[in-house]
Amino acid sequence: MRKKITVAICGFGNRGAEAYGSYQMLHPDEMEIVAVADPRPARRALAVKEYGVPEDRCFTSGEAMLAQEKLADVMFITTQDSDHIRFAIPALEKGYHLLLEKPISPSLDECVALREKAHETGRIVVVCHVLRYTQFYQKLKELLVCGAIGKLESVVATENVAYWHFAHSYVRGNWRRADESSPVILAKSCHDMDILRYLVGKPCLRVSSFGDLDWFRAINAPLGSAARCLDCQVKADCPYDAEKIYLTNPASGYFGGHRQWPLTVLTNDVTEEGIRKALQVGPYGRCVYRCDNDVADHQTVNLEFEGGVTAVFNLSAFTEGCYRTIRLMGSLGELEGNLDEQKVTLRPFGGPEKVFTLDPVEGEYAGHGGGDARMMEQLCLLISEGGRDALTSIDVSVESHLMAMAAEESRLHGGKPIDLAEFGKARK
Ligand SMILES: NC(=O)c1ccc[n+]([C@@H]2O[C@H](COP(=O)([O-])OP(=O)(O)OC[C@H]3O[C@@H](n4cnc5c(N)ncnc54)[C@H](O)[C@@H]3O)[C@@H](O)[C@H]2O)c1
Repeated sequence: MRKKITVAICGFGNRGAEAYGSYQMLHPDEMEIVAVADPRPARRALAVKEYGVPEDRCFTSGEAMLAQEKLADVMFITTQDSDHIRFAIPALEKGYHLLLEKPISPSLDECVALREKAHETGRIVVVCHVLRYTQFYQKLKELLVCGAIGKLESVVATENVAYWHFAHSYVRGNWRRADESSPVILAKSCHDMDILRYLVGKPCLRVSSFGDLDWFRAINAPLGSAARCLDCQVKADCPYDAEKIYLTNPASGYFGGHRQWPLTVLTNDVTEEGIRKALQVGPYGRCVYRCDNDVADHQTVNLEFEGGVTAVFNLSAFTEGCYRTIRLMGSLGELEGNLDEQKVTLRPFGGPEKVFTLDPVEGEYAGHGGGDARMMEQLCLLISEGGRDALTSIDVSVESHLMAMAAEESRLHGGKPIDLAEFGKARK
C-alpha cells in the first residue's frame, strides 16, 4: 500500500483549507494534515474541529510553526502573494518538500532564489499551476504532441474573469493593489502564461503588452452613488452592487444558492445577517468606483516563442461568465476549446471535425476545471513514491513568472517589446 503523506499548512485560508486541505476528507488514506499555522483564531478552530488537527499543532504564525522540528513530509505555503518566500526558504532548509501557491513571489529575484534553494536542498517544489493538471489542457497537449494539427503556428487565448469575480478579487479584495500583492497579469494570469509555455512546448523569447485600469475609478462613479453599496441611491442599475453580488445573484456569491467562496472571504458568519454586517463595515461592501485599487482591468499580451510560434492572450474584467477559451492553429488543422464547457474541437483541414467531450467537473473536481483535485492526487503520488519530476516544478514555474513580469514591464512602458533573456538577466 502507498504511504500516506503528512502535511503542515502555512496559511489556513481559502486555498490552504478549502481548496487543498479538504483533499484529506475525501482521501484520508492518501494525506493527513498534522499541523497548521494561521494568525486567525477562527481558522485554527476550523483546523481542530473539521480537519482533526491536534490543538497543540495549531500555530499562530508560519514563523512559530517553522521554529519547531520538521513536523511533516510537505509544507503547503498558502499565505498571501508577498508572504510565500519568507516561509518557503526556511521550510526547504528544514527539509520539507513544498506545495507552493502561485505566484511564487512578485519579485523575480525571489523566484530565482527559491529555485536555487530547491536545487541546493534537493527538495521537491510543486507550484500550484492547477490548470496544467486539468483533463482539458492535457487533452490539448496530447493532440498537439501527436501532431493532430501539424506544426503549431499561432495561439489565441482568453481569460474571461467575469465582472463580479473581478470586482470581488481585483477591485475590492486582496489582489486590488500591485504593491500589496502583484499586478493582475502575474496574480491571475501566471496560470495562462504557464499554459501557453506548456502547450507551445518551447521557451518564450519576447513579449509586448497593452492595457490599463480604466473602468473602476472614481471618475466613473454614477451620480447618486455612495461610498458603500448599502447606502447607494442608484444600486438598482449597478451590476457591481455588492448586495446583488453576494446576496441575490445566482451567478456569484448568492447567499440563497451556496455558502462557499467567495462568501467565506467576507466573514466566518456565513448567514444573511453575517454577510450584511460584512457589507456594512468590511472592504467588500465598498462602491467599486471608490476603492483604492490600481491593477489593470483589461490587458492584452503578445508573445513570440522559440521556433516562431506566436500567441495573443487577452484578460478582461468585462465578461458575464468566468471561463477560459483557447484556439491553437497549426499547419494541418486547428483546435478550439472552452474550459468551462469541458469541450475540445479538432478541425483537421479538409477532414471531418471531431469533438472531444471531457468528464464533467463536479463535486471534488469542481475547483479550476478539476485541476485542484488532480494536482493533489499527483502531489500525494509524487511524495509517497519518492519521485522528482513534478508537472509544475519550480523550474517551469519561474519561466511563466518571467513572462508575466516582462508583460507588466512592457505595459508600463507603452507596449515596448521586452526580450526575456535580457529582462531575466536584469532581474527585479
Ligand atoms: N492556484 C490558484 O489558482 C489560486 C487561486 C486563488 C488564490 N491563489 C493564491 O493562493 C494564496 C492564498 O490565497 P487565499 O485566497 O487562500 O488567501 P486567504 O487570505 O484566504 O489565505 C491566506 C491565509 O494566510 C494567513 N496568514 C497571514 N499571515 C500568516 C502568517 N504569518 N503565518 C501563517 N498564516 C498567515 C491568513 O490569516 C489567511 O488565512 C495567494 O498567494 C493567492 O494568490 C491561487
